Amino acid sequence: TDKEIVGSVKEQLAKLFEESLRAAFPDIEDVHPMIAICNDSRHGDYQCNNAMSLWNKIKGQGTQFRGPQPVGKAIIDNLPASEMIERCSTAGPGFINVVLKKQWIAKSIERMLIDGIETWAPKLPVKRTVVDFSSPNIAKEMHVGHLRSTIIGDTLARMLEFSNVEVLRRNHVGDWGTQFGMLIEYLFDKIPNWEAASAQAIGDLQAFYKASKQRFDNDPDFKERAQKAVVSLQGGEEKYRKAWTQICEVSREEFQRVYQRLGVHLEEKKLEGEKLLPCDQEVTGSSRGNSLLLKCKGESFYNPYIPKALDLLNNKGLIQESEGARVIFIEGKKIPLIVVKRDGGFNYASTDLTALWYRLNEEKADWMIYVTDVGQREHFEMVFAAAKLAGWLPQNENDFPKASHVGFGLVLGDDGKRFRTRSTEVVKLVDLLDEAKSRCKLALEERGKATEWTAEELEQTAEAVGYGAVKYADLKNNRLTNYTFNFDQMLSDKGNTAVYLLYAHARICSIIRKSGRDIEELKKVGGIVLAHPDERALGLHLLQFAEIVEEACINLLPNLLCEYLYKLSEDFTKFYTNCQVVGSAEETSRLLLCEATAVVMRKCFYLLGITPVYKI
Ligand code: ARG
Repeated sequence: TDKEIVGSVKEQLAKLFEESLRAAFPDIEDVHPMIAICNDSRHGDYQCNNAMSLWNKIKGQGTQFRGPQPVGKAIIDNLPASEMIERCSTAGPGFINVVLKKQWIAKSIERMLIDGIETWAPKLPVKRTVVDFSSPNIAKEMHVGHLRSTIIGDTLARMLEFSNVEVLRRNHVGDWGTQFGMLIEYLFDKIPNWEAASAQAIGDLQAFYKASKQRFDNDPDFKERAQKAVVSLQGGEEKYRKAWTQICEVSREEFQRVYQRLGVHLEEKKLEGEKLLPCDQEVTGSSRGNSLLLKCKGESFYNPYIPKALDLLNNKGLIQESEGARVIFIEGKKIPLIVVKRDGGFNYASTDLTALWYRLNEEKADWMIYVTDVGQREHFEMVFAAAKLAGWLPQNENDFPKASHVGFGLVLGDDGKRFRTRSTEVVKLVDLLDEAKSRCKLALEERGKATEWTAEELEQTAEAVGYGAVKYADLKNNRLTNYTFNFDQMLSDKGNTAVYLLYAHARICSIIRKSGRDIEELKKVGGIVLAHPDERALGLHLLQFAEIVEEACINLLPNLLCEYLYKLSEDFTKFYTNCQVVGSAEETSRLLLCEATAVVMRKCFYLLGITPVYKI
């Protein structure tokens, strides 16, 4: 947009304090303002924490100051005049408490309503990131773990995109490995005319995988053929390539259907012959023989680059021989990272090292983010450590370019064990979504909505609430903890659930609708007044949206945004309980506050991948 991005409150305060620090202590270089939200809201809204460390720096140098408190006072005295700050005071060992002007808070909200919530985007120190997420494996079912990766990864991507960072949403599909030998041989056996047959002939790929695995384990002759098939495939033999592509296509269509339901956009690398196609070309999974799907490449994309990447590592003297394999030893790790197996083949680690190199050097990303279960933490720690040894990544964790593993815990069933269905099979993703939706639909029908609404409205609302509930239940927990999958809990309209939040939003919309006032007109007139303490608290919380998104991005923690959203709805409830809106003398101002709350809530929903609803 051409509208100026105002940045977070913290950032705006930092600018003022930077000026004052420079004016008060011109001889001291490199002091960066340390601004935080006030620990105790009774003392102020924000605090500046520089006085103590400044005092420690200057106290031995014959300074005129007599302790951290006067240092704090000097910082306050040198603050430039601004619309922003009501008053400052020092406390404790030189903390500076800052109280914001409520007129400034009100103005900022009025301006956002006119210029758009995009002007509240945080500014991040990165330009381009790769978010590697979802990444299921061919011929295996997408399980709840992949659901978590898809949901968490999508939210991280959305938050980064909102913060004006370019995001490469990369699906690192497991489309390579020794299991393809048996899959291909099994295809030749089962469907002799496979080349002419439609992809449908394979049917349920998971069953296909199981059957071929069984055969592999029990039939030595088949096993030998399967092992030879791997060699033929890796050698690039036409027939084997073709069979591999066909098997992959079936899986990819299934994946695509899940992504479409979830409203998640993912990109694989795509090759046409040797040519690289733009990644963001849409793939629609509806029709068989989809030519774009056939060009998708997951892990296998990196195969041709592996020898070169390993050469680079070898030239740095990092690769050693160990028990017939080629490995990289990492300090502090008992087992080395195997990069070439004893049979000479490459593995998961060789691919990930190569992909990291590619993302850094070819895609010029400055932040590589990997979303998988915590079980893969060790793998990524080793890969990142090797990249540091090679000098691909800087030594300091906090410097860019940077690689981060976003780990997450297990999804548990009510029995506290890994979430499974009765048949002890893994749970199919689509079934979960279907059930959430149908439960929501039932609840809406029980509340008489089937007669009140059109069939389409009913359907759309059930879907938005049902899918939203599944996503939110996943995102609201700290991702590292295991969480229990429970429909009754996540579909409750009380407590910290998507249902409660979506309804809260719909209620705000209905307040505005029922007022009969034209909100677009009100925006132009403006006039938010934050007289009541609950109005001021709501206004301040609205204004903190940017810094929460920033924190959630930097720490890769979507649950921070959920906490923010839940508190927003609580602050709103308090305000609405204590401040009459429609028919009061403050109607205009309060309607604008309602609208601002709805706007921020909607942006939170969007960032969490949840579709808002407008009526309940
Ligand atoms: N396919 C892997 C799995 O299902 C996840 C891949 C994650 N990404 C990566 N670059 N290793 O466990």
